[in-house]
This record gives sequence, structure tokens and C-alpha cells, in this order.
Amino acid sequence: MSLKIPRSAILLLLLLLLCSFTAISAHENEDPTIKTMEDFSGYPFHESHSTSQSHTTVSLLSVDAQSLQKQIDELSTYSDTPAPSVTRVLYTEKDVLARRFIKNLMGLSGLSVREDAVGNIFGRWEGYNPDLSAVATGSHIDAIPYSGKYDGVVGVLGAIEAINVLKRSGFKPKRSLEVILFTSEEPTRFGISCLGSRLMAGIEALANALKTTVDGQNVSFLDAAGSAGYTKHEDDLSSVFLKKESYSGFVELHIEQGPILEEEGISIGIVTAIAAPASIKVEFEGNGGHAGAVLMPNRNDAGLAAAELALAVEKHVLESGSVDTVGTVGILELHPGAINSIPSKSHLEIDTRDIDEERRNIVIEKIHRSAIAIASKREVSLSEFKIVNQDPPALSDKSIIEAMEASSKELNLTHKFMISRAYHDSLFMARVSPMGMIFIPCYKGYSHKPEEYASIQDISNGVKVLALTLAKLSLQ
Ligand SMILES: *[C@@H]1O[C@H](CO)[C@@H](O)[C@H](O)[C@H]1NC(C)=O
Ligand SMILES: *[C@@H]1O[C@H](CO)[C@@H](O)[C@H](O)[C@H]1NC(C)=O
Ligand SMILES: [Zn+2]
Repeated sequence: MSLKIPRSAILLLLLLLLCSFTAISAHENEDPTIKTMEDFSGYPFHESHSTSQSHTTVSLLSVDAQSLQKQIDELSTYSDTPAPSVTRVLYTEKDVLARRFIKNLMGLSGLSVREDAVGNIFGRWEGYNPDLSAVATGSHIDAIPYSGKYDGVVGVLGAIEAINVLKRSGFKPKRSLEVILFTSEEPTRFGISCLGSRLMAGIEALANALKTTVDGQNVSFLDAAGSAGYTKHEDDLSSVFLKKESYSGFVELHIEQGPILEEEGISIGIVTAIAAPASIKVEFEGNGGHAGAVLMPNRNDAGLAAAELALAVEKHVLESGSVDTVGTVGILELHPGAINSIPSKSHLEIDTRDIDEERRNIVIEKIHRSAIAIASKREVSLSEFKIVNQDPPALSDKSIIEAMEASSKELNLTHKFMISRAYHDSLFMARVSPMGMIFIPCYKGYSHKPEEYASIQDISNGVKVLALTLAKLSLQ
């Protein structure tokens, strides 16, 4: 039987063959990296591609919880006080050993490690578009005396693990990703909090002050830094300043240090703003005198002036009308401090915070006016009214909030927006980069004491949200 095929049918067959060949070759050319990146970013890398499998990739994000817990435990042994407390003070031997431990882990994760003149440590995973500004994450590992092992540490070891999570999942960053260990977030040794991040933010006044700063043992900052292997030369301090637009985003993972997430059973806090403290030192001086001999109308009691000012602080804070305004008189000292002596001198230290700078500054102004009025009424002298610091609060960046929120949703983790009432290196990074923070629950909100605790489950959730957020920001 002879078969006569019409020419039009042959043409159709050829066309079909051609089409299917093109389809096959398109499938073969599909870059798995691009596929992974699309899944992470949540939108197609090429307009034509579907994103139907995004949850598959999210499920690839696995945290090595056991190793992470082991690292947290090991880091806590670099301490000058016995477990469970941790004491790790800037540039001490234990601090230097702890830094070595972190640099080693960065190396094992394939990060290239660099340190600046004051010992801020950077571990970089080069993106495939290294000319773009990088996305950074990080926190601190210094610990005030007799504190715990999670404050800051979760945001450093967790950040290195977030990089590991991304590497294991096959992700390739477009913008480089960097893990930062900030030098001296705690003010323990030199009385300056967030020393590393403040310098990175380019604060000239700090670079100048550090040239003459000494610790309680009269060891200069530069000598201490030198003995830890960092700069000995004051001229190097300005080399720490970040160049403009070094980072397109910065995200810090941290324990909440408050009770809200634990109480409400929520996994992730998405920080929308960081309240900033101002601290004020006040001194009143009077004539003092014998507690029995000097009659009441003849006194000018510096202690009562301080007491009155402490109550005025509370009043002015409450007048702001916002729960976000807080004020505390944490130090109140009387001189000579004897039961039978009228205080001749009083010393107060006042901490006031808000997420609204103007509102907080109004409180400071009112406290100042009250101090003057009280001194005049009680005929004592206001011998000091010094605003020690007055840092501006910071708002998280909108696109980083969105990335953190989308990540929490994709990971099915309960989350809520919240304010950081403690401050962090992020407060200063916000001056040079869009910023965001991820909080995880911690036991009873405890921090800065040995009972500080976060479960490895909560830490792992935070690491996953951090990893996914970094991935999204890296592709933006
Ligand atoms: C601190 O050290 C400097 C320089 O070494 C010295 O001049 C100064 O007297 C010392 N101050 C105190 C209080 O010991
Ligand atoms: C989140 O929940 C949805 C619906 O219950 C599910 O389809 C998805 O796989 C979950 N994703 C993850 C990462 O667990
Ligand atoms: Zn901290």
C-alpha cells in the first residue's frame, strides 16, 4: 500500500518537530541557579518564568541546629567568669580568643575575612555582581560582666549559619553578602556603647575622643586595641568610617530582651523602629550640715532637690502622652552619705528614650527647666547638667521590613511588628544603610544576666527568616 502524503502535512510535521526541539533545548538551557534565585526572590528572574515552586525552595532552608547550639555553648566558654555567666570585655584575652573562634567559623563557611583598625570583623560572600553594594548582617559578641550567652551572639553565629543555610540550598547571591562582628556594643570598658558601629557610621567626634580615651585602669583605648592586634595609631581611626553606600541593606538578628514575643507565643518580631536613649548627669550642691543642729528653714538639702527632680522626670515623661516615651533615674547618690548629715551634694543619672526624637528632646528640655527651678526654690546650686549622649532614634527601612515580613510568611512563622526599646548596632548602621532587625523570643525577656536563654528552635526560626531576607535583599 502506497502512502501519499500531502506536502502540507510534511510541512506541519517539520514545524512540530522544530517546536518540540526548541522546547527541549529551552528546558536544557534552564540554569538551576536562576531557578533557585527566582524561588528565593519570589518573582521571576526572566519575565516569562513561573514561580509556582517557591515553597519547594523555602523548604530547602535547613538550619543545622545542633552545630549552632554547640557553637553558642563553645563561644560562652570564652569568659572571665564561671558558667552559666559570661563576661567578655573588649580587647581582653578572652575577647581575642572569641574573635579567633568567629573568624575561623567564617573561614569554614567560605567567607573571606577582613578586619578594620578597631577590630570590626567582616566575612564576605562575593555575589555574582560584586560591583553592587553588599547586603550585611551581624551583631556583637562582647558581654557585660555576669551576663548571658545569647545577647549579640545569636546575631553573629546565627548570621554565619544563615550563610551556611543559603549555601546548602544552592542559592547564589547577586549582591555580596557580609557578616559583621561589631566591636564593643557594650560600654563596659571605655564607657562608649556601640563603639564599632558608631565609628563605621563616620562619627568624627568619636574618632577624636578615642585618641585620649582611657579605661578604669588608665589603659588608653589605643594601647588596648594595639595589644589585641589592632591599631596603635590614632590616624587609623578614621579608616573605620564606611564609604557612602557600602551597603544596600543591613539586617540584625537579636533576642528580644523583652517579654512580648514569649508571652504572646509569637516566633518572629519584625522591628520597625529603634528607640534611642539620651543620658543626662545632674549634680546639686548645698551647704550640708548636722542633721540635728540645722533647723528645717535654714537648710538647702541637695538630696531633696535630687528627689524632687526624680519625680519631675516621671511627670515629664508621662506628659508626653505616648507609651513609647520612658525615663529612668537609675543612679542617685548622696554625699557624704551619712545618716546624721544633710546631703551637701547629690548626683543623678537620667536615661530617657523614645522612638520620636523631637518628643524625647522636649522631655529633656523640661527636665532641664525643672532642675533650674528646683535649684532656685531650694537654694542649692545646679553644679552640673550634662547631656552625655543624645542619639537619634532610627526607623527600619520599608523594603527591608517587607522582605522580613514576606520571609516570615513564606516560612509560616507567626510574626508581629514591634519596636526595639533597647538599642543596638543597627541604630548606627541605620545612618549609613537601610536597616531592619529580626527579634526572636527569649525566656521571660531576661537579658544581661546568666538566666538569659533562647531555645534553639526559636533561634533556628530566626536564622531561617534572616537567610531568606538576605536572599531577597541580595537579588534586589
Ligand atoms: C594615666 O596615665 C597617663 C599617661 O600614662 C598619666 O600621665 C596619668 O597621670 C595617669 N592618670 C592616672 C589617674 O593614673
Ligand atoms: C506553609 O503552609 C502552607 C499551607 O499550610 C503549606 O502549603 C506550605 O508548604 C508551608 N510552608 C512551609 C515552608 O512550611
Ligand atoms: Zn546585644
